[in-house]
Amino acid sequence: MIKKGIILAGGKGTRMSPLTKAVNKQLLPIYDKPLIYYPLSILMLAKIKDILIIVNEGQLDQYKKLIPNGKNLGINITFKEQDKPRGLPDAFIIGDSFIKNDNVAMILGDNFFYGQNLTKLLLECSKIKSGAKIILHSVQNPELFGVAKINNRNKKILKIVEKPKNFVSNLAITGLYFFDNNVIEYAKKLKPSKRGELEIIDLLKQYKNKNKLYAESIGRGGAWLDTGSISDYYKTSAFVQAVENRQGLKIACLEEISLFNGWIGKKEILNQISFYGNCEYSSYLRKLLKTK
Ligand code: TTP
Repeated sequence: MIKKGIILAGGKGTRMSPLTKAVNKQLLPIYDKPLIYYPLSILMLAKIKDILIIVNEGQLDQYKKLIPNGKNLGINITFKEQDKPRGLPDAFIIGDSFIKNDNVAMILGDNFFYGQNLTKLLLECSKIKSGAKIILHSVQNPELFGVAKINNRNKKILKIVEKPKNFVSNLAITGLYFFDNNVIEYAKKLKPSKRGELEIIDLLKQYKNKNKLYAESIGRGGAWLDTGSISDYYKTSAFVQAVENRQGLKIACLEEISLFNGWIGKKEILNQISFYGNCEYSSYLRKLLKTK
């Protein structure tokens, strides 16, 4: 099972300016909690405990105020800074000394996943020993995404194309990836593209060329939402509000996931309640303690 995960939580957040001028996008709220909680919850659902969060240079203190080290969440959090957005594969160059000889999962800090069977899918992906696995989701406008065509029988990728002009597939490549340890070496070999960044599609192509790129797709009962533009950002917030208020259950409550995983107990939950203070999130944690 993959035990290490990276959240890439830097970026310019250009599309959301001026909201992102002083605060990093991943610290802005999606309904009742900061955006970073959602990708972090995904790694925790995949039973990944060692987590590296990569943030923009100068923004470390803001993140540390929110998630100092992960102790009360039952996980180990390490932070590293990225001096400028060099592209998604830069995560594996910055994360070299964190990954060491292990396999690793990577999730983009602004990606939101939700749905039935998601935990099962995550645990399946984290079994990967050799090669890489990406998560696909069907979209209405594939020309705006990196897309993949797959062999449904063995889940191998037949073709990957960035923003295809002609239709290739309606399955978009989401921002959640599972890699074997070769990812460090492959990332270091990449050259920046015309836009001056290392491209994830070029990294994936190295696996594909060796016939080692696999995919899982989130079915139609699941959601993968973008939070990159203002309008998508608010749609995601509205989605969380609607689901949480209907069910009385929170999406991406980190303490709840950790409690369920058996990583923390009453003491850590009480520490978190005193950390958050008197708020609705704390009331939810108090209720959790009563029902567990
Ligand atoms: P993008 O959506 O490519 O960029 P962005 O979030 O800065 O937004 P915009 O396009 O509006 O400027 O990034 C996807 C995610 O990856 C996002 O969470 C930021 C993060 N990221 C980094 O941390 N470092 C990088 O070098 C890049 C390219 C992205």
